[in-house]
Amino acid sequence: MTKHFLRDDDLTPSEQRQVLELALAFKKDRHVQTPLRGPRAVAVIFDKPTLRTQVSFTTGIAELGGYPLLVDGNLAQIGKRESIADTARVLGRQVAAIVWRTFEQSAITEMSELAGVPVVNALTDDFHPCQILADLATLAEHFGGAGELSGKTLAYVGDGANNMAHSYLLGGATAGLHVRIGSPAQYSPAPQVVGRATQIAAQTGGSVTVTTDPNEAVAGADAVATDTWVSMGREDEQAERRDIFIPYQLNTELLQHAKADALVLHCLPAYRGQEITAAVLDGPQSVAWDEAEYRLHAQKALLTYLLTHGDAQ
Ligand code: NVA
Repeated sequence: MTKHFLRDDDLTPSEQRQVLELALAFKKDRHVQTPLRGPRAVAVIFDKPTLRTQVSFTTGIAELGGYPLLVDGNLAQIGKRESIADTARVLGRQVAAIVWRTFEQSAITEMSELAGVPVVNALTDDFHPCQILADLATLAEHFGGAGELSGKTLAYVGDGANNMAHSYLLGGATAGLHVRIGSPAQYSPAPQVVGRATQIAAQTGGSVTVTTDPNEAVAGADAVATDTWVSMGREDEQAERRDIFIPYQLNTELLQHAKADALVLHCLPAYRGQEITAAVLDGPQSVAWDEAEYRLHAQKALLTYLLTHGDAQ
């Protein structure tokens, strides 16, 4: 069976661990594996804005020995000019894998059903699983290895209903983390995602907590994360969201509730003075730049894993 990465729980705990260990290995030696040598092409498609994801996937595919084939989402108009099904069939005949950033989760699921090659979610409205792999690899490096993640506490404050919160729940639970989400009641994570994360955590020794109290979420945490209050596609809700989310701002006062040496994560782009203060993002506890670099190493590890397991090899 062809392996895909559409949401964080597409990797089992042991698969995730292998990918994280490989990500750390890629950081030490950028060419430790070259599964795309030939070169074979990987289609990278964006229907939403991007910086890190485009740079890290195109650089990573080239470093894996492959050819990053950037497909402009505005030109391709997948699902409008041509159906997702037909696009999947056409791409799957030519490229080794498909990386896609789009809106609905159902679209990427449909792509995976007919492509016949690995499909990777480069962010949808519901999940951002590649970012969580980068975050987990960053934490693993700082904690002393992928085996050190289990049992640590990761708090996320802000929009609990967005792709990052959902991916922290699933990916964090898979890693055996105690995942805490602190968000306003009307921006709580989707109940199905909380349910699935709770189920995974029961197997990995992690746990899941959802609270409206940001101090409770952060109390004693080993790592604290946040994300923009206004995700791509929600720009017209900016004004109303600011008033609701301001108590969840990741600032020096809130960070004091975490462990004294807690690491601060932000997937970027960051809006200083909104979801995070400059003092925290640019402060000594921030690992945001390591995290941005780990997009490269983690995605190379993921592609290597998908390409060398299942039917794709
Ligand atoms: N939640 C954000 C993540 C950006 C990387 C968004 O979807 O815009």
